[in-house]
Amino acid sequence: MKIYVCKDYERMSKVAANYLAAQINIKPDSILGLATGSTPVGMYEELVKKCESREISFKNIKTFNLDEYVNLPKENINSYYTFMHSNLFDKVDINQNNINMPNGNTKDFDSYSKEYEEAIASNGGLDLQVLGIGNNAHIGFNEPNEYFSKETGVVDLTKSTIDANSRFFDSIEEVPNQAISMGIGTIFKSEKIILLASGKTKAEAINNTVNGPIDPHVPASILQLHKNVLLVVDEEAASLLDKNSYEIV
Ligand code: F6R
Repeated sequence: MKIYVCKDYERMSKVAANYLAAQINIKPDSILGLATGSTPVGMYEELVKKCESREISFKNIKTFNLDEYVNLPKENINSYYTFMHSNLFDKVDINQNNINMPNGNTKDFDSYSKEYEEAIASNGGLDLQVLGIGNNAHIGFNEPNEYFSKETGVVDLTKSTIDANSRFFDSIEEVPNQAISMGIGTIFKSEKIILLASGKTKAEAINNTVNGPIDPHVPASILQLHKNVLLVVDEEAASLLDKNSYEIV
């Protein structure tokens, strides 16, 4: 696991965007796994600028998003569908047919989840997965559990996640308590993984991910076993890490 520490959120966003831009330029038909949430917003802004200046093109890129709330209409301002379209997809030259997002409003989640897995596999698997991390070290919406989840499916959100996500909703009652998420096994199969984290509230999760035992109660800790993971974190998120364990970029 390689760790880059950036002085602040802005620098973290630029470093992450440069990494994605390199992937896109090296393999213009890359299959990207994408994340939502506050953390990657700055990175998406940078990618939009790079696309506007023709440094990169999404023309042949295919995307698979990590997750979506269950039973939240996709037009809702808090759906991840809306988030991805307003932060990235509507601002770059991506072919709309190449966008894949889990459907949180399907009737049969079991067969739909299998289809989502198959769609990733039939495209040759993910080249690069972008991750944020929950305060409880969840990745995707795979919450701390007795085991590491394998495949895409419906997950119950924990109180800590519902509390954290309530900042976007008018009231906590409106926050969905379930999501459909890629499994940890799905994420792990990606060729490369980049995980972003910013702010003090992520410091403990990052420290447990890097230094703790591999434990499903710290879902991101499984990344210690992956062959190609880059953590790009700001100084606050890195504040509990040993200074010899990272590079300052
Ligand atoms: C989002 C996702 C989540 C978030 C995590 C952090 O697609 O899968 O794991 O990355 O909840 O969210 P923020 O960035 O809002 O702190």
